[in-house]
Amino acid sequence: MTYNDRFIRASRREQVDRVPVWYMRQAGRYDPDYRKIKEKYSLLEICKQPELAAEITMMPVKKLGVDAAILYSDIMNPVASLGIDFDIVANIGPVIHNPIRSSGDVARLKPIDVEGDLGHVLETIKILNRELQVPLITFAGAPFTIASYLIEGRPSKNYLKTKALMYGEPEVWFQLMDKLGDMAIAYLRAHMAAGGKAFQLFDSWVGALTPGDFRRFVLPTIERIFAELWDLPQPKIYFPGVSSGELLPELGEVKADMIGLDWRVSIAEGRRRLNHRTAVQGNLDPTVLTAPMPVIEQYAADIIDQGLTENGFVFNLGHGLFPEASLEKLAELTAFVHAYSEKKIASQSKEEAGYV
Ligand code: CP3
Repeated sequence: MTYNDRFIRASRREQVDRVPVWYMRQAGRYDPDYRKIKEKYSLLEICKQPELAAEITMMPVKKLGVDAAILYSDIMNPVASLGIDFDIVANIGPVIHNPIRSSGDVARLKPIDVEGDLGHVLETIKILNRELQVPLITFAGAPFTIASYLIEGRPSKNYLKTKALMYGEPEVWFQLMDKLGDMAIAYLRAHMAAGGKAFQLFDSWVGALTPGDFRRFVLPTIERIFAELWDLPQPKIYFPGVSSGELLPELGEVKADMIGLDWRVSIAEGRRRLNHRTAVQGNLDPTVLTAPMPVIEQYAADIIDQGLTENGFVFNLGHGLFPEASLEKLAELTAFVHAYSEKKIASQSKEEAGYV
């Protein structure tokens, strides 16, 4: 099998013969084989076994036919290196035993030591770099999203404590953003040195902010992360998470190659709000996967039709897969995206060549 670089080409806005696909949270609980492994080990235990973490990373590539792998890990893993004690609790998510609430808590955070504390992650990337025939995407959590867990102590609906710190003690807030920005930069740079082929910065919950608050309290750190990593040749993705449509016009100075869109803006509208400056990725509502296959295909075709009006489109969901998703439907959807887009691209290039 030859190496499939469609994902890299599309994120650089180069011509592709068919639309590349991957799914956020593609390594996970919808797969019965993964659930079996989870009966024996926790997520953190798996991550500390590079061979096993690499195997789980490769499972969706084989089973779904996707054009990229995403490292099996969690956005919380690197915060252990800062001195944060946490667990990933079933059906809740990350739970932090010593939440960050004061300037002293922020001052006590240590700088990340990737080689010393997260060598197992780098080892997993090295294994995958040898084995995969598709690009490996690695990732980090963005400062707001990580801060929301560190401050709340667990997943939150309204981010009351997070926003209380942001509004009430902006100096402490910015110190925290700086430290989490430094963490993301060092961690992602080490991933790329170990063989990662692209990275995504997950800002899953930043859509909870007004555009003005995003601009003031978060965006400077996002701009700094991408500016400091700009020299890396690998494609760089920013995913501003759920309900981020109103934030898209703010991203003009973020040096990312591709922006992930959630399903509340169309691909066409997302591109308009981004001034057609980057590639885009998205954005099927993951709940549409509960529909019968012909309905799923109708939604996917609409997204692809919009995606293919310009170079620079990667098919994905607007947010992560639910554990209830069906492996069979996902494999069918991948095949559909490939076949439908291939046909469409072939007929577009015939038109351009003047054959029709
Ligand atoms: O397949 C992949 O996408 C790669 C693996 C991956 C995981 N977490 C594994 C995981 C990735 C990319 C993440 C990122 C992540 N983790 C995000 C950003 C993406 C998003 O969904 O917005 C966030 C917000 C987290 C924090 C987190 N970790 C949550 C909210 C949960 C879910 C809690 C639950 O049980 O529903 C986790 C746990 C987690 N991370 C699981 C997996 C496969 C599920 C539990 C498990 O299998 O142990």
